[in-house]
Amino acid sequence: MRTIWPGEDGRSMQVIDQTRLPHAVEVARLGSVEDAAVAIETMVVRGAPLIGATAAYGLALGLLADPSDAGLEAARSRLARTRPTAVNLRWALDEVAATVAALPEDARADAALVRAGEICDEDVAICSSIGDHGLPLIEDIWQRKKGPVNVLTHCNAGWLATVDWGTATAPIYKAHVAGIPVHVWVDETRPRNQGASLTAWELGHAGVPYSLIVDNAGGHLMQHGLVDLCIVGSDRTTGTGDVANKIGTYLKALAAHDNGVPFYVALPSPTIDWTKRDGVAEIPIEERSPDEVTRITGRTRGGETATVHLAPDGATAANYGFDVTPSRLVTGLVTERGVCDASEEGLRSLFPDLT
Ligand code: MRU
Repeated sequence: MRTIWPGEDGRSMQVIDQTRLPHAVEVARLGSVEDAAVAIETMVVRGAPLIGATAAYGLALGLLADPSDAGLEAARSRLARTRPTAVNLRWALDEVAATVAALPEDARADAALVRAGEICDEDVAICSSIGDHGLPLIEDIWQRKKGPVNVLTHCNAGWLATVDWGTATAPIYKAHVAGIPVHVWVDETRPRNQGASLTAWELGHAGVPYSLIVDNAGGHLMQHGLVDLCIVGSDRTTGTGDVANKIGTYLKALAAHDNGVPFYVALPSPTIDWTKRDGVAEIPIEERSPDEVTRITGRTRGGETATVHLAPDGATAANYGFDVTPSRLVTGLVTERGVCDASEEGLRSLFPDLT
């Protein structure tokens, strides 16, 4: 199953509603630009590549309603405002807009739908290739260690965050299929718990052994030799190799550095922002509602979904969605074209055509 696909009516897209996981698998129909924008904002869909794919289809739906230049710009600007950090969103909007810009109005929507479909198919191929290039990292450790490889990951950079395969999880899935014993430490990833609700669900269904851990456990595990390798995803990587990813990634990279644990970031090329050089200074960091920090949502024993308050009434909270890990803390970048140093030279060596 993919995370997103076109509706049979030719005027909508279907997505897995990730706000309902892990307790229910439900499909949501998105029939307009506004539906797509709200789905991204409320995290019905999330994860950088999937945000991009949803925005691409969203723009196509906007052109079905209004194929004029004004309609294109209105849809594009509504979608671009949804979430600021993942650059795949802007990349996908640019791709679709460039595809239709020179076309007559009556040809735009169809062309946009085709391009959105291609973006999805490309994402599947890219993520599968990331898996192929990341697999040797796990295999090498397994051959040296002659025992299960313990991989730590943060947030959900799995197939739910992409169209299929995932980025950080693709090498894990490929290793599992190849018969290499892998065990994954899954950071729960407060405040929205993408690790607990999404990565754990994914790995469980794939039969990959995992242990859910609180976000602060990683350092302790690394000090005790219980983590062989960290692999995380990225929402935006600068042309110099700095990596924005879910809040808390930086602390894991610091702990990995202090303990000599390899720290890899898996990313597709549309996640690279070639216009940025200093991730900490230049990458916009999303700030979300404080309610996500002061409350938590889950399933009650009675099977109902409930939101409960964790903090005192009226507590103030800050909710930064992402942080930036400087390239010096990243062992390597795993891309669809291979593994490279987290540096300008490393990225240029793999993507001379994109820089
Ligand atoms: O806020 P989210 O759930 O959209 O954040 C997702 C992440 O941080 C992922 O690690 C990132 O998008 C990479 S997805 C392949």
